Parts: sequence; structure tokens; C-alpha cells
Amino acid sequence: MELNPFSYEFHEDPYPTYRWLRDHAPVHRNEELDFWALSRYADVVEASRDWSTYSSAQGTTLERLDPAMFETMPMMIFMDPPRQIAMRRLVNRAFTPHATAGLEDRIRSVTTALLEPLVERGGGDFVRELSALLPMEVIFDLLGVPSDDRRTLRAWMDESLARNPEPPVVPDRAIEAMANMTSYWFDFVADRRRRPGDDLVGQLVAAELETDEGPRPLTDGELVGFCSLLGAAGNETVTKLLANAVVLLHRHPDARAAVVTDPACIPGAVEEVLRYTSPSQYQGRTLTREVELHGVAMPQGARVLLLTASANRDERQFPDPDRFDVRRPPHVALGFGHGVHSCLGAHLARVESRVALEEFTRRFPRYEVDESRLERVHMSNVHGFSGVPFRAAA
Ligand code: HEM
Repeated sequence: MELNPFSYEFHEDPYPTYRWLRDHAPVHRNEELDFWALSRYADVVEASRDWSTYSSAQGTTLERLDPAMFETMPMMIFMDPPRQIAMRRLVNRAFTPHATAGLEDRIRSVTTALLEPLVERGGGDFVRELSALLPMEVIFDLLGVPSDDRRTLRAWMDESLARNPEPPVVPDRAIEAMANMTSYWFDFVADRRRRPGDDLVGQLVAAELETDEGPRPLTDGELVGFCSLLGAAGNETVTKLLANAVVLLHRHPDARAAVVTDPACIPGAVEEVLRYTSPSQYQGRTLTREVELHGVAMPQGARVLLLTASANRDERQFPDPDRFDVRRPPHVALGFGHGVHSCLGAHLARVESRVALEEFTRRFPRYEVDESRLERVHMSNVHGFSGVPFRAAA
């Protein structure tokens, strides 16, 4: 059995491969693509905590990123402490539970407005008309991106993450989209420097970063890094989580009935979707020293994938892990990662997902998903759908 995160067939159902790896090769080596993978919960947790051994500083995806990118727009997700912590401190306040709770009304009104035409037509495309647009409006509100630019920027984001099945090259269309996006963010930051607003980017322009040489303002590249990271992270994953939720609730009528009759179980359903089909399948790291695990030695410099999606289905940790159970008792799943890099936007993602599911299931207590027309995204890490056609059912 081999793990190939670029395979379109694998994207359809990665879970049998993960189970095999946990049982037979908990430290898996892929010679051709030159990486290692940890698949068991306990190993993924331990590695996620040990940032000085499992470094993020050379990127967290399987495909190697252009080294120039780390210089032109440094992002905290591709840094190790203490630099990552100093960067994270600058944006933490915008994503606390308190700050996020303040966004709930806006999240609800955006959701309601997006749902209106779907209700009128008795259905539509859940991703294109709702789940891709809701997180986009919320994160771009926070960053202060003008309304007219949002959909173009969102389309570039999707395109920049698209991957061909033949690994591990990043296709030209993705490189071009990334270049367009980067150039947009540089213009955006230049504009913010001229006319600082009270949005998050305006605050970052005025902020000071703690460094070994003392505090200093952020460079243009660091500001662009924040826009690019928050823009992408705030958009892609919530879109996928919500689409996965709607497909799973369609496939599990009992779970859907539970959510409709007792909306109090929606937060639990969000956690279960995150565990059961994690939108972010793995976190990539690079070893700063040799590590031996389960009798296998991984050399210094090895690229190691921490398969959080597999860890979330590990029978050593979760009873009956392949059962989708929206009433599963609270648990520590790894859908938002673990350790110093654990998701900055987790509270925001939870509120967006809860509100969207509350409003959607209230208007569509019964619906059918057209499984024959589901469209899957083909990214090396993000797992979910780009099209989910559905209609109201009697
Ligand atoms: C369901 C939705 C989401 C999922 C599944 C998710 C998942 C993750 C995961 C797994 C990581 C860890 C990456 C690593 O260890 O290398 C992460 C980090 C991060 N996430 Fe999310 N995320 C979601 C939503 C969001 C949202 C809405 C934002 C909004 C800004 C966000 C911003 C970030 C940032 C900035 C980081 C990097 C943190 C750091 O490096 O310290 N995420 N996310």
C-alpha cells in the first residue's frame, strides 16, 4: 500500500489507506515522492508538540514551495518559535472567543442573505452559492478587502491550490493565480499604508513586532504574508467543512434528523464532521535531527507528513472511529492541528459553521444531494467538494 496525496482516486476515500498505514506502517516511507508519514494519533500529537524537531520553517505542504516566497512574504505558519509566536501575538486578539462572538450577527445576516435565493429556487449549489461565499465575506470584512475585489481574489485562491494528479509539480495555472494574488496584496498593503483604516490590516500597519533587535514595524512583505495567510486559511477550510457536513448529513438521515429536531447538537455535529472528514488532511514538517520511531529511523532533513485526518480515525483513540456520530462525547480531535501552530481561526470557524448549519437545516430540514454531480477538489492537503448540488425534498 502506498500513500500518494496527489492521487485523484485517493481523494475519493483516503480512509482505507490510512487504516492500513496505522496498522502496518505507522512510520510510512514514500521513496518516489520522498516523504515520510505518521498516521497514529499518539505519534501525530507528540510530533505536533515537538516543534523544535518537527519544524515548519521549510513549509507545511508536500510540494516544495518556492524558497523566494519565504523571503518576499514571510508567514507565521512557515516559521518556528520564537519568531512564529511574536507574529501570532499581533493577530491573536482578532480571533479570541470574545472577538469572534461579536461577529455572530454579521455571520448570520450574510448566511441569511445567501440562503434567500436558494430557498426561492428550492435548492442550488451549496458550495458555489453558500459555503464558498460565507467565509469569504467574513474574513475579507476583517481584512478590509473592498467588496468588488472579493470574488476575483477568491477564485485565484482556489486556483492557486489546485494540483494535477502527476506529482509533485505545482501547475502553471496555480503559479499564475498565486502571482496575481500576491501582486493584489502588495497593492492592497501599499494602499493601506497611505490610508490606514481600522480593520485588521490597518492595525497591523500600526503594530510593532518584537524581534531580537527590539520592536520594529512590519515590512510590506510581512503584511502581505498576513493577508495571504489569513485570506487563504479563513476561506478554504470552512468552505470544505460545511460542504462535507451537508454531504454527510445527507448520507446519514438519522444524524440529519437529530440536528433538525435538536439544533443544540449542531456544535457537536461540527466537531464530528471535522473529525470524520478533516478538511485539512495533514501538516507537513521537516526534521531538524534524526528521529527513530517504531523501529524506523527518519533522517535529519526528512519531510514528514503528520496525518491528522488519519489520527482522527485512529481506533486506538476513538471508539468505533468509522461511525459518524453527531452525539459523540467531547474529544480532542486534531482537525484544527495541535501545538504551537494549532488553528488561529478555530473559534471563528466554529461560529461560522454552527450558524450556517443552523440556518441551512432550518430552511432545508429535508434535502437531497445529487451525488452523481458532486465535484471534488483536488488539492494535496485540503479535502472536500467544489460543487454540491442539492434540492429540497418532501
Ligand atoms: C474548518 C475550518 C478550519 C480548519 C479545518 C483549519 C485547520 C487548521 C490547521 C490544521 C492548522 C494547523 C497548521 C499547522 O500545524 O501547520 C491551522 C492553522 C491556522 N489556521 Fe486554520 N483552519 C480552519 C479555519 C481557519 C480560519 C477561519 C482562519 C481565519 C483566519 C484560520 C487561520 C489559521 C492560521 C492563521 C493558522 C496558522 C497558525 C500558526 O501558524 O500559528 N483557520 N488551521
